[in-house]
Amino acid sequence: MTHRRKIIIDTDPGQDDAVALLLALSAPERLEVLGVTAVAGNVPLALTQRNARVICELAGSSVPVFAGCDAPLKRDLVTAEHVHGKTGLDGCDLPEPARPLRPEHAVEFIIETLRREAPGTVTLCPLGPLTNIATAFQRAPDVVGRVAEIVLMGGAYFEVGNITPAAEFNIYVDPEAAEIVFKSGVPLVVLPLDVTHKALTSRAWVEEMRSLGTPVGRAVAGWTDFFERFDTAKYGSEGAPLHDPCVIAYLLAPDLFSGRHINVEIEVNSPLTLGMTVADWWRVTDRPANALFLGDVDRDGLFRLFSDQIARL
Ligand code: BDR
Ligand code: CA
Repeated sequence: MTHRRKIIIDTDPGQDDAVALLLALSAPERLEVLGVTAVAGNVPLALTQRNARVICELAGSSVPVFAGCDAPLKRDLVTAEHVHGKTGLDGCDLPEPARPLRPEHAVEFIIETLRREAPGTVTLCPLGPLTNIATAFQRAPDVVGRVAEIVLMGGAYFEVGNITPAAEFNIYVDPEAAEIVFKSGVPLVVLPLDVTHKALTSRAWVEEMRSLGTPVGRAVAGWTDFFERFDTAKYGSEGAPLHDPCVIAYLLAPDLFSGRHINVEIEVNSPLTLGMTVADWWRVTDRPANALFLGDVDRDGLFRLFSDQIARL
């Protein structure tokens, strides 16, 4: 029997976060989503928490949604409306969510859930800046050892940066939070740009989504069309990278991915390379391995998985 994993999705939707949430909610026999926690990132918190509720409602899910930190630990928030549009979810008009936000702070929810559930049974899935997770670890150090694993989208090594020449967006926005998480000792699986820049949509896949004829299929096609414009202009690639869905795909089908168990540290000082994930891919130091840093993905297998799962909603 396949093991059903308990997860908390920490997110800053974002069209690719949205597809990741849909994917997770499409696999209830494999993933038990205990809660969705919103963080400021692609757009400010007021929008990310709203967008998270819009997406859960689109999927017909009643998973609780919590709002978390509205700014990075030590820095001003940097957002990415230039990629995701003014709302963060441009590309498809969806109704305002009927279900309210849960009143507890996301950080409290993360702490209480980790204390309540058996140690080693809850996986954290961050899809945005790591502010909520780091705040939980700082506020309640007792929960750190109770986390089963953190599977996150962030960082880059061979692909280097997307928000600066050296840094990937999620890590750059809150490098101090990333440093706390990467030094926490929790087993980490990292889906960096090295993988997600291979997870490019194709025209045929977007049309396949649209032709599902479902509200979810139309939304996925509309969102992808929207942010494809930006990525096509920037990278000259045909499609857009579905960054965050790679996290959920890893949980559902880890064999699609390959990587190395290595040391990864975060640059928090240099103005030039702030937020860089310094990954010892070639193992040239004796710094201890703290992360499974993925480097490759079976792109066709990945999109088959996306298609099969999205069609279920
Ligand atoms: C990451 O940044 C955001 O724009 C995306 O949602 C993804 O989480 C990619 O660098
Ligand atoms: Ca994201």
